[in-house]
Amino acid sequence: MESQKLTYTRTSTNEIVIGNDIFKEVAGRVHRMRAAKHCAILTNETVAKWYLQPLLAELRSKGIKACEIILPDGEKYKNLESISAVLAKLCADNLDRNCPLIALGGGVICDLGGFAASIFKRGIPLVLMPTSLLAMVDASIGGKNGINLSEGKNLAGTFYQPVLTAIDVSVLRTLPLSQMAYGIVEAVKHGAIADTAYFRFILKNIDAIKAKQITLLQRLIRRSIHIKKSFVAEDELDHGIRAHLNLGHTFGHALEAAGNYRRLHHGEAVGIGMLMALKAASSLGKLTEDYSENLTRLLTEFSLPTKIPVEFDRKELLKTLAQDKKKVDDGYRFILPEAPGKTFVHKVSSDKIEDFFLNACNI
Ligand SMILES: NC(=O)c1ccc[n+]([C@@H]2O[C@H](COP(=O)([O-])OP(=O)(O)OC[C@H]3O[C@@H](n4cnc5c(N)ncnc54)[C@H](O)[C@@H]3O)[C@@H](O)[C@H]2O)c1
Ligand SMILES: [Zn+2]
Repeated sequence: MESQKLTYTRTSTNEIVIGNDIFKEVAGRVHRMRAAKHCAILTNETVAKWYLQPLLAELRSKGIKACEIILPDGEKYKNLESISAVLAKLCADNLDRNCPLIALGGGVICDLGGFAASIFKRGIPLVLMPTSLLAMVDASIGGKNGINLSEGKNLAGTFYQPVLTAIDVSVLRTLPLSQMAYGIVEAVKHGAIADTAYFRFILKNIDAIKAKQITLLQRLIRRSIHIKKSFVAEDELDHGIRAHLNLGHTFGHALEAAGNYRRLHHGEAVGIGMLMALKAASSLGKLTEDYSENLTRLLTEFSLPTKIPVEFDRKELLKTLAQDKKKVDDGYRFILPEAPGKTFVHKVSSDKIEDFFLNACNI
C-alpha cells in the first residue's frame, strides 16, 4: 500500500457591508462580480411586497437580469420542497455557475438561499441581504445554512460562505417590533458572551432601539457582527470556541421543543434560557456579577417572557434536553455566564443532570 496527502488551501472572504439605503451600491457590487449580467433573487411574499421592486430596479439599471423566486412566508417552508422548487427555477432560468443568488429576507430565506447556492452546480456565488434584525446580527454571518427535516430542525445543511453580506439597516423600518425583540435577544447574548460595554450599551438604549433609530441600530449591528465574526473566523466549522455563541441555547432548545415550536419562539426560549444559565452559574458559585435583573428588565421591555410557561412539565423538559444534540459522550456541556462579557464551559455528568437542570428551572 502507498499513500499520498492532498492538502487544499481554499480560503474564503465574506465582505460585509452595512449602511442606510444601499440597494444601489449592492447592485453595483453584484455587477462587478465577474461582470454578472444575470442573477437570481430569492425572497418571500412579505419581504417581496416591500423590497423586491426597488432591488430589481437597481439591478436593471446596471443591466442585470434577475430571476425572481418568491416563496410563501414562514419557518414551515424552510424545507426540502422549497429547495427543490428553488433549484428547479434556477435550472429553468438557465443560471450558470457565475451567476449570483441573492437571498433577500430574514433568517429563513438566508438559510434556504445559502443551502441552495451551495449545492446548485456545486456552488454559485451567494449574496445575503438579511432583512430581519436576527438575520443581520446572527443568521447572515458565519456561513451556516440549512433546512428542517420532519425529524427535526436544521438537520440538513452546509457551511458555505457568502461572497457578500449586504445589510441595509433602513429595511428594519417595516419589521414588526416582536421580530426586533428576537434579534435583540441574540444581540444581548453577544454582549453577555464577549463585551461588557456592548451589553450595557443595549441596556442603556432600549427606547432608541424600540424607536428604531437607524444610526443606533447600525452601531448595534456592527458590534454584534464584530463579536460573532471573532468566534466564527476562528472556528468556521463549529468544533470549538463557536460553542460560546450557544449561551442560553441548550436550555432554550429544550423549551422550544417542549412547546412543539409553537408555544415559544426561538428568541423567547433563548431569553428564558439565558436566565436559566445565570441561575445555574450562580448555584455553582461561579457568577461573579449577576445580571439577571438587568436581563429580566430588558426582556420585559421587549414584551418577552422571563419565566418557564407554567404548563411545562419539568421532567418532560429534562427528557427533551437529554435528546439535544449538545450531549457529549461523558455528559452534557453547557455555556454558562460568569459576568457580563464572560462565559465558561461547564460539563455536567449524566447522573448529575437532573439536579442541575431542575435547579436552573427555578428562575
Ligand atoms: N444560519 C445561521 O447561522 C442561523 C442563525 C440564527 C438563526 N437562523 C435561522 O433563522 C431563522 C429565523 O430567522 P428570522 O427570525 O429572521 O425569521 P424569518 O426569516 O421567518 O423572519 C421573520 C418574519 O419577519 C418578516 N420580515 C423579515 N424582514 C422583514 C422586513 N424588513 N420588514 C417586514 N417583515 C420582515 C419575515 O417575512 C417573517 O415573517 C430560523 O430558521 C433559524 O433557524 C440561522
Ligand atoms: Zn439563537
